[in-house]
Amino acid sequence: MSKSFSRSVSARLTPRSVSSPRVLAQRKWWAAQGPSFGNLAVIFCLVSVILVAGCMLYLYAFRYFGRGRLISGFFDESDVCNVFDGSWVPDGSYYPLYNSTECPFAERGFNCFANGRKDMNYLKWRWQPRHCDIPKFDAREILERLRGKRVVFVGDSMSRTQWESLVCILMTGVQDPNTVYEVNGNKISKTIRFLGVKFQTFNLTVEFYRSVFLVQQGLAPKHGPRRVRLTLKLDKMDDINHRWIDSDVLIFNSGHWWTPTKLFDVGCYFQNGGVLKLGMSINSAFRTALDTWATWIETMVNTNRTHVFFRTFEPSHWSGLNQKACEVTQQPLSVAKSDDRSEFADIIAKVVGNMTVPVTVLNVTLMGAFRSDAHIGTWSHPSSILDCSHWCLPGVPDAWNELVFFHLLANRRKKLGR
Ligand SMILES: *[C@@H]1O[C@H](CO)[C@@H](O)[C@H](O)[C@H]1NC(C)=O
Ligand SMILES: *[C@@H]1O[C@H](CO)[C@@H](O)[C@H](O)[C@H]1NC(C)=O
Ligand SMILES: *[C@@H]1O[C@H](CO)[C@@H](O)[C@H](O)[C@H]1NC(C)=O
Ligand SMILES: *[C@@H]1O[C@H](CO)[C@@H](O)[C@H](O)[C@H]1NC(C)=O
Ligand SMILES: *[C@@H]1O[C@H](CO)[C@@H](O)[C@H](O)[C@H]1NC(C)=O
Repeated sequence: MSKSFSRSVSARLTPRSVSSPRVLAQRKWWAAQGPSFGNLAVIFCLVSVILVAGCMLYLYAFRYFGRGRLISGFFDESDVCNVFDGSWVPDGSYYPLYNSTECPFAERGFNCFANGRKDMNYLKWRWQPRHCDIPKFDAREILERLRGKRVVFVGDSMSRTQWESLVCILMTGVQDPNTVYEVNGNKISKTIRFLGVKFQTFNLTVEFYRSVFLVQQGLAPKHGPRRVRLTLKLDKMDDINHRWIDSDVLIFNSGHWWTPTKLFDVGCYFQNGGVLKLGMSINSAFRTALDTWATWIETMVNTNRTHVFFRTFEPSHWSGLNQKACEVTQQPLSVAKSDDRSEFADIIAKVVGNMTVPVTVLNVTLMGAFRSDAHIGTWSHPSSILDCSHWCLPGVPDAWNELVFFHLLANRRKKLGR
């Protein structure tokens, strides 16, 4: 992050140094004339007029680039504005971005409306950053920009939701839905390892790889304790990692499976450098796995081509004594409140902050923490399970995608600016 920041700072400084010869030329002209009081007054007026005009032009351009079409500008809003700090505002004129029932790639389990949810307000919220605007998502234009590209999501079911969300948003920009298909003809399921949707007209694929820990899970070593049935090799990337490399956009998440229930209770323990680490804490294992991931990015991924994102923990809203109750509200909370595993977000920020290549942290934890109204609750399919972790579609994952494209297009402006 610091690297990309300094990159853009130097890009912004360039025009200033270019203009300095002109300043010198003006000084020469000034010296030759010899300053008189009349000249001074004229120059003062001229400079004032130019300054005011400049400010107005700047303000106009800022609003124009900020809200409307994405044309390369001179500044990069991702540097001046933390888009993850903001609030949800009602916006029924523009949201929801699509209708899940009409999108063949939205799984029924996430389609709360089709599963009987009657209140509709949860579909109509826009994420509003405190200090700037996010450009409207123009599916057709994004499709054009993604022509010939590969967008890859890697992670757990939260990544699958974001994958579904992106495919459905993009489908609203496609004329013939039959030109969009899953490359192996597969149906979406919870355990499937790979799903890839091709947008034929645009030669674009949007892919999802299920890798809940990002690192390799394997069988226990032969002579370990009996309770150890599986190990998580913290120093080895998941064995399908080669399929993620040649992508243009690469978006990771991990977190929801790093719990005692999903690890120790099923006999899965950590292993590092071939050695079992029975006493290792989950936080420290998560940190080690992320270091492995960071090294992998630095050595295997060409970040000149691939824009890498890591999404922070997506908060859940379980309640009650044992965190087993799930009450979906009708409105977002006015104060962020959730189980946000913020230590994971801190670890991600630390690891990414120390990387030698640019990676964008999609810090979605806070924005999700307001949305106790946006979980699946009882509107899943089949409806036997209660769910205060996953999100309805359309919904919160659509906003994650809007933020992805905010950064992608900002990055593009940055590259053009250089
Ligand atoms: C994420 O964003 C929120 C809101 O700006 C901020 O309070 C928090 O510290 C950020 N977390 C990380 C890990 O950057
Ligand atoms: C989505 O489309 C279906 C079928 O076209 C329709 O019945 C339903 O009302 C729509 N859902 C919303 C939320 O508008
Ligand atoms: C489609 O995109 C891929 C890169 O993802 C490229 O290698 C291939 O040549 C493209 N095909 C066509 C027909 O443009
Ligand atoms: C990425 O770009 C930098 C600067 O333009 C260059 O030095 C580097 O070799 C490039 N890396 C790859 C893998 O192409
Ligand atoms: C940052 O990276 C360097 C070299 O890769 C490493 O020596 C150092 O321990 C790292 N610092 C943190 C806080 O992870």
